[in-house]
Amino acid sequence: MSTARKGLLIVFEGTDGTGKSTQLQLLAEALQKKGLPVLTTREPTEGKYGQKIRKLYSNRDTVSLEEELDLFIADRKEHVDTVLMKALTEGKVVLCDRYFLSTVAYQGAAGLDPAYILARNDFAPTPDLALLFYAPIQTGVQRITESRGEQLNDFEEEIYLQKVAAQFKQLELPYIRRIDASGSIDVIHHHVLEMIQPLLEML
Ligand code: TYD
Repeated sequence: MSTARKGLLIVFEGTDGTGKSTQLQLLAEALQKKGLPVLTTREPTEGKYGQKIRKLYSNRDTVSLEEELDLFIADRKEHVDTVLMKALTEGKVVLCDRYFLSTVAYQGAAGLDPAYILARNDFAPTPDLALLFYAPIQTGVQRITESRGEQLNDFEEEIYLQKVAAQFKQLELPYIRRIDASGSIDVIHHHVLEMIQPLLEML
């Protein structure tokens, strides 16, 4: 990452149903209350590639692993070019729900080489912090099927999620902080606040 920027990029990662989106919203509200300029965003995006990816949720078998990876990469390139770089250059605190570690873990679990996936993401700004939420897969699956009243989609099938969790577990990068997501929303929120505090002091 060579481009000068003043903002902060904080990404929320983990398997489905770990509550990361809830925590992202809570953090956004807390930072806004402190008067900080916050931008919340997510991947897959609502853009043209993100929409194609959402269509794949129910029939993943129609594309190859490489084609699937290409779609996630294309979506991210568009996101970086049209949203992320601008916000970071403007000094915003960007909170992004999923980013390239999701690609490493999910497409890695599907069979692609994690190092290769990481290399394909070279263009994407390195996060200042990646909060990696983990909880037993059963907990996440229960949250999805009971609380949200949703079925598991093709990206969320339970055995696959176990493999995704194993990929996340292997990741060793200096900007990753792991968060036990099996506790209460409030307790986790306080952990998140503690973890981002040192970064806010640098702003
Ligand atoms: P999710 O955050 O659950 O989005 P939504 O709330 O719109 O359903 O992400 C959708 C799925 O896409 C999720 O199961 C993880 C998967 N995914 C990948 O496989 N690779 C990626 O690079 C990203 C960003 C997501």
